[in-house]
Amino acid sequence: MQELWPSPCEELDLDTRLRADRRTSATGRPWCTLMMIASIDGRIEVDGLSGPLGAPADHQRFVAMRRHADAIIVGATTARVEDYRPSDTLIAVVTARLSLDPTARLFGDVERQPLLYTTSQAAGTRAADFAGISEVCALGDSVSAAGVLADLGRRGCSHVVLEGGPTLNSLFLEADLVDELLLSTSPNVAGGPPTSITSAAPLSATRPFSIDRVLLGDGLVFTRWLRPRTSTP
Ligand SMILES: NC(=O)c1ccc[n+]([C@@H]2O[C@H](COP(=O)([O-])OP(=O)(O)OC[C@H]3O[C@@H](n4cnc5c(N)ncnc54)[C@H](OP(=O)(O)O)[C@@H]3O)[C@@H](O)[C@H]2O)c1
Repeated sequence: MQELWPSPCEELDLDTRLRADRRTSATGRPWCTLMMIASIDGRIEVDGLSGPLGAPADHQRFVAMRRHADAIIVGATTARVEDYRPSDTLIAVVTARLSLDPTARLFGDVERQPLLYTTSQAAGTRAADFAGISEVCALGDSVSAAGVLADLGRRGCSHVVLEGGPTLNSLFLEADLVDELLLSTSPNVAGGPPTSITSAAPLSATRPFSIDRVLLGDGLVFTRWLRPRTSTP
């Protein structure tokens, strides 16, 4: 992995660089990093999966970020189609309908159970299906990004990584709760219908980010963007 900007370096020690980064939000809620990969033409999946866009350098950054985080937040569809597995970092799945399959690989390790954020209604009808394999956390009539971050903060998390997909990303961006955006650009033009790291519905306002770093590895370009804050929401 090479750093191109702002401090050119031929052999970057990613862990050291990540450790040195400031990731503290002013209000005490967890710092939220959104991490995604996209092709040159903006596609975030090929045949429904992000894997074909990746390369070892991307995997290295993905794993390093997870290691540095206190929790991973992911949408139910991504957890399902990408067949998430148990992780040493707490995985929090956002699912209004508790639509996950209790026999999925994600629930296969009682020592590393995921946390499921859902509505009170879904918890009332489906929580029993997940007894002993996960913690179901009901956040009321609907699940908000602020509610998820507040709960993770109460659990002692200070840094969380949002791993998509686009629907969940838009929820957090609309609430202006993404502090850092890590985008891996894969050296491929994938074609197909337009996709984006956000959902099709526009945000109520654009969210400007400032470029902080550009890395290069295995032909991918890795950019780090920070949301300038005068006051943190
Ligand atoms: N390129 C990348 O880096 C990358 C990363 C991640 C994912 N992906 C791709 O993205 C695709 C999936 O993305 P997606 O946008 O369709 O789905 P998603 O964001 O992963 O998950 C959507 C689901 O999350 C739950 N959800 C979202 N907002 C919610 C809210 N406000 N309250 C409660 N639950 C909420 C709902 O689950 P329920 O239906 O259970 O209620 C919803 O159906 C896949 O193809 C995946 O491969 C790519």
